[in-house]
Amino acid sequence: MPQLLPALQSFIDDVRNIWSQESDNSVRMAKAKPFMERLLQDKRLQQLSADWPSTEGRKNLLLYVDPDHEFAINAVVRVPGRKGSIHDHGPVWVMYGVLTGTEDLERYDRIDDGKDENFAEVKLNSIGKGHTGKVDIVPPMDIHSEKGGPTRSTAIILRSARLGEIIQGQYDPVTNSVRRGPGPTQIPFELNA
Ligand SMILES: [Fe+2]
Repeated sequence: MPQLLPALQSFIDDVRNIWSQESDNSVRMAKAKPFMERLLQDKRLQQLSADWPSTEGRKNLLLYVDPDHEFAINAVVRVPGRKGSIHDHGPVWVMYGVLTGTEDLERYDRIDDGKDENFAEVKLNSIGKGHTGKVDIVPPMDIHSEKGGPTRSTAIILRSARLGEIIQGQYDPVTNSVRRGPGPTQIPFELNA
């Protein structure tokens, strides 16, 4: 068996530890945040990310799925100036950490009454400036978008479950429509030492 990149392996070990001690995903995510921040500073990981393939077209690189606790680790690679869709992750908790480059991490409020399943009016609430080491925790159903900066950017994502088949929302702020369907395609990707 090839060995995982040491920084990724130690992040997995720390997250497994947290997940086995805590059952509440909000507490788990808060406890895992400093370990994600440390992972994002790893120089070897930053170097390797320069060769990762683009994940445009709703794709995620799938680095790891935990066999006991279900959490998953993804990487994404954004092209310069990317206009990310506005979406939620259904029931999944997400911790999004910028590894290289810069991104705008937008958060939205839903301002309609939610009674029509095909209609959703969303309003931009805040824009967080993403740069190496910046970590954003996105609770279930929170509406958000990642917009690319002027250069290529990469991010590492910890999710409480593997996306793909899980139903998520996609919001169109022009037509105020919302569409629910399966999430990004998961591309298995080995990150070895
Ligand atoms: Fe997202």
